[in-house]
Amino acid sequence: MKFFIDTANLDQIKEAQALGILDGVTTNPSLMAKEGITGADNILNHYKAICNIVEGDVSAEVIATDFDGMIAQGEELAALNPQIVVKLPMIADGVKACKYFSDKGIKTNMTLVFSAGQALLAAKAGATYVSPFIGRLDDISTDGLNLISEIRLIYDNYGFETQILAASVRHTMHIIDCAKLRSDVMTGPLSAIKGLLKHPLTDNGLAKFLADYKKGN
Ligand code: E4P
Repeated sequence: MKFFIDTANLDQIKEAQALGILDGVTTNPSLMAKEGITGADNILNHYKAICNIVEGDVSAEVIATDFDGMIAQGEELAALNPQIVVKLPMIADGVKACKYFSDKGIKTNMTLVFSAGQALLAAKAGATYVSPFIGRLDDISTDGLNLISEIRLIYDNYGFETQILAASVRHTMHIIDCAKLRSDVMTGPLSAIKGLLKHPLTDNGLAKFLADYKKGN
């Protein structure tokens, strides 16, 4: 399973990259705003900075909600760097734009996906990635992980190549469950990724090894 980090924070992206396990980055307008990145030029420059840190795919989201606007913004984003994946909302014009970019060989990520039917449309439109938001489903008492299972089944039934990118991952167990369910990718915060490291037996065992080494030296 590929690991993407879901942030626009350059320090966190650098830290995940330094761990050696990072495969890409996802961002959205809210994550950009959280870092104080506003204005079209600053946002474009920030995407370039992210691409300079990581080697993998970097999802950059369009703001337009009409087909022509999405095409214009998506083309501008895609021209920034070959790592850029154009992130499009799961609405009718987003599906049309996805098909347009797929036909041109430009990578796409269909975002704000909350149902298997939406994921089926994303695959039919040739999306590179589909982003089911599991945490936001959990927030409304709906099993987000079940959606990953449904999409996996449907995509496997027909051999769709669209990669399932589990999004809105909130904690470490989400990552482990997504891996069990054969999600192709997960995107989550640095805290959830670093949570995978933690085990008290590792810490206790290491402390004992070091103490015993000191006794004999
Ligand atoms: C996905 O690409 C989104 O950026 C993200 O995962 C949303 O997560 P949230 O529900 O924690 O805001």
